[in-house]
Amino acid sequence: MSGGFVFSEKPIQIESGEGAYLYGTDGTEYLDFGASYAVASLGHSHPAVTEAIQEQAAKLTYVQASYPVEVRTELYEKLAALAPGDIENVWLCNSGTEANEAAMKFARAATGRSKIVATKRGFHGRTMGALAMTWKDKYKKPFEPLAGGVEFVPYGDEEALAEAVDDETAALFLEPVQGEGGIHPATAEYLERAREVTDDAGAALVFDEIQTGVGRTGNLWACEGVGVEPDILTSAKGIANGLPLGATLVKDWIAENPGDHGSTFSGGPVVCAAANATLDTIVDEDVPGHAAQVGEYLRSELEAATEEYDLPVREVRGEGLMIGIQVKRGANRVLKNLALSEQVLALPAGRTVVRLLPPLTIDESHADQFVDSLAEVLG
Ligand SMILES: Cc1ncc(COP(=O)(O)O)c(C=O)c1O
Repeated sequence: MSGGFVFSEKPIQIESGEGAYLYGTDGTEYLDFGASYAVASLGHSHPAVTEAIQEQAAKLTYVQASYPVEVRTELYEKLAALAPGDIENVWLCNSGTEANEAAMKFARAATGRSKIVATKRGFHGRTMGALAMTWKDKYKKPFEPLAGGVEFVPYGDEEALAEAVDDETAALFLEPVQGEGGIHPATAEYLERAREVTDDAGAALVFDEIQTGVGRTGNLWACEGVGVEPDILTSAKGIANGLPLGATLVKDWIAENPGDHGSTFSGGPVVCAAANATLDTIVDEDVPGHAAQVGEYLRSELEAATEEYDLPVREVRGEGLMIGIQVKRGANRVLKNLALSEQVLALPAGRTVVRLLPPLTIDESHADQFVDSLAEVLG
């Protein structure tokens, strides 16, 4: 049996990719406005990343993380330099869920407490710890019992935060913009309040930037847009432009007592080389600034088309190139029609939101192509 028993596979066979496009085995060109779960942040098969992977694979494919190797040290230093504020310590793993699992363990070890506060509609991954902090029952119920001690609060409710985070709390986990939950950006006041209540309680503030990070929202990290610094920041998805990498970035007070943690594949050289090339390109070419600009254009064109063609769209929301289109009909039907009639790929976020997470390198012509296709499908 194939992976199809877990994934609902689409009737599209992909062979190659370049920039914002994927190409089917039959030669069909697809505009990939989901960047394949937000992974192809610089577009598919970016030449700088491909070259870095090839060079490193020829030199050394893998060495365990207890032996320093230049390419990994370079990534540790780069991430520490790019992390918000004085977050200086880096743990590398293979996925977003593992980055959050580590964050959960580090916070519990450093505080000596077990309670975790997370948010309704939040998504943090599918392994047993990260899953316990994820809101939707659909993802959790068949696998219970999960890690205990997680309390959920409504996202955006400052009062509820203040009540839930107490002197038994190890960590508060938040996405600065909820992704899977429907593209809901937090207000600056909410994130500031989250900082205050965790400071007062001596708990760790964890920002899950797995979807929002590495330029997606128009800043390198979404929390930079509001100037609130977490104690722990988790990243994955687009950080190595297609190779599997997760990172848990932590402040000194957490790193001083993180408990015992490890993983065989932590920081493999090929993955690190891909991440170094990705991050260098993102910084050198001001990809976040570009994402902010094209994102604004795309959102305003979507709103203009909604009005001009009277499209069944309730709301367009988001930041940078993390955009949710709340439709009046089911999102899955819209996505299927976009893929099969227009050769445009995007993602759902719940039943009624079409989620756009395109490569951060798209330009206005790609945005126009998407808007025309959506108008065609919805009109
Ligand atoms: C905010 C957030 N956290 C965690 C994860 C889990 O990441 P992964 O699928 O790499 O385990 C995701 C994936 O969609 C995510 O969006």
